[in-house]
This record gives sequence, C-alpha cells and structure tokens, in this order.
Amino acid sequence: MAKAVRLACVTCLLGCAGEQSALDPGGREARQLASLFWWLVAGGGLIWLGVTALAVWAAYLKRDGPRPDRERLLIVGGGVVFPTVVLAGVLAYSLWLLQGLLAPAPPGSLRVHVSGLQWWWRVTYGREGGEPVELANELHLPVSEPVELVLDAPDVIHSFWVPGLGGKVDMIPGRTTRLTLHPERVGVYRGACAEYCGASHALMAFYVVVEEREAFDRWLAGQARPAAAGDARGAAVFLSAGCGACHAVRGTAARSRVGPDLTHVGGRRSLAAATLGNGAEALARWVRQPHVIKPEVRMPAFHLLPAEDAGALAAWLEGLK
Ligand code: CUA
Repeated sequence: MAKAVRLACVTCLLGCAGEQSALDPGGREARQLASLFWWLVAGGGLIWLGVTALAVWAAYLKRDGPRPDRERLLIVGGGVVFPTVVLAGVLAYSLWLLQGLLAPAPPGSLRVHVSGLQWWWRVTYGREGGEPVELANELHLPVSEPVELVLDAPDVIHSFWVPGLGGKVDMIPGRTTRLTLHPERVGVYRGACAEYCGASHALMAFYVVVEEREAFDRWLAGQARPAAAGDARGAAVFLSAGCGACHAVRGTAARSRVGPDLTHVGGRRSLAAATLGNGAEALARWVRQPHVIKPEVRMPAFHLLPAEDAGALAAWLEGLK
C-alpha cells in the first residue's frame, strides 16, 4: 500500500517539472496559466473539504424534526448563491487573463513563422536585408523579449504547444493564427503537436531554446550561412540519391522545400521532429528506415543504399552544423 502511494506521488510530481511541464513555467503566459491552475486546485480543494465536512456532519446529525428554514437556506445558499458567485468569479478572472494572453506582440517584436506539417515543423525567421532563414523542428528565442509566432498548416489541423512557455494555438489550413510569448527563463523547452493529425501525431514534437540576446544573434547568423562543404563523397551521395528532390541544403544544388531544410541539420537537438537524438548513427537509421521510426512518414526509405554510401551520407549530414 505504502509503495503504491509512493509510486502515485512520484508519478504526479514528475509532471510538475521538466522540459515539457505546464507547471514549471519559463515564460509570462505559462506563469499566468499555472497560477490559474493552482487557484482552481486550491479553490476546488477547499470546496471539496467543505462539502465533505457537511456530508459527515449531516450523517451524524441528531434529527429533531424538520427545519424548513434551515433547509431552504442550505439549498438556496449552498446550491444557488455560492456556486453562482464562485463560478462568476472564476469566469471573470479567466476572461481577464485571456485578454492578456491574446494581446498582440508590440510592434517591432521578433516574428517567427511556424508551419505544422505531417509530421514536422517548418520554422522561418525573416531577416532585415537578407534572405529568410529556414530550419525544422527547433526554435531559438531571445530571453525577456516578446515574440510573435505566426502559425499555419498547409495540410491538416495541427496545434502548436510549448507547455513551459504558454498555451496552445491551433494551426488551421487556410488560416493564419498568432501566438505571443514572453520567455522569461533561459533553457530548453519541449513542444508538441496538441491536435490529432494522423498516424504519427505523437511523433511531432520540437524544441525551443531560450537564450541570451547575443547567443541568439550568433545562432541566427550561423543559420543564415550556407552549409559547410564537408566530405565530398557524402555530398555526392546526397545529390545522386535524389535527396535534393525534397530537401534544401543552402550552398548546394539542393533547393527543394517539400521536406525539412537540412542546411544545419547536424547542429539540431533532435531528428525527425524530436523522435530521435542527433548523430551519424541516428541519421543513417532514419535514411534507411524512416517508416519503422515514424509510421506513414512521407520520406521514402533508402534501404537499398549501400552501407558505405549511407555511412558517408550520414557523416556528411552530421557535419552540417
Ligand atoms: Cu500535428 Cu498532431
């Protein structure tokens, strides 16, 4: 029994911290939502205690005949007035909170475009006087600055959610939705798709790296650079196997935007929308057996690629930092 209670406590508490917890806020919006949650928990707990105390009291009450005045008071007071006042208060507080959560980012804020696709995220940073920078499944944001996320979905409905930074917003085909975030704490936050979008919905996650402004500027400048040359054999395999029909690697002949931009794929925290860790071994596995890792993925399997070519290709991709 004690073991079961301990296990239940540990399981519950594990949800209170970590890179994907709404109860471990690292941004203004997540902090407000977490405070609403704790107010509701505390209020709900108090009401539950009160109702339980009344039920126990009623069970042990010595009846000395009906008391219609008291009964009326209990029914009208406890059944009508009390819930109306409490629920109206909660509604007013949530509407007030919502107003702040839906407020647009101030003019001049950083703007990042995120598209949800089956089953990955296309991330685009516009740059003044330069070509936009595109990457996949990873966002970097400067700490203590507002950011406007412009969200859309070309295929089916997805939902953008980084529990540690704010609430979720749907990404709807044919529409553009927006989300404003104010990251307050440097760190890495995991986000996920929060709307069922097909076979690999559960394998559609991403990372948000919140960092100091200088680190962010350095990162963005690095992302804007074309790919490192690297090993010529790996690059040749990439082009001859037809990878460029779907992927772009800036600085090579591959410029397609069907799949993720791979210009700096080796520097990302994960592969296949946070399904695999990064590295040559994982890259080779992904190229050869994407369907085993991510059911119904659009990426064709290159299992016929000779092992040496696959190794050279994976090593080249890993070097694209
Ligand atoms: Cu995309 Cu669920």
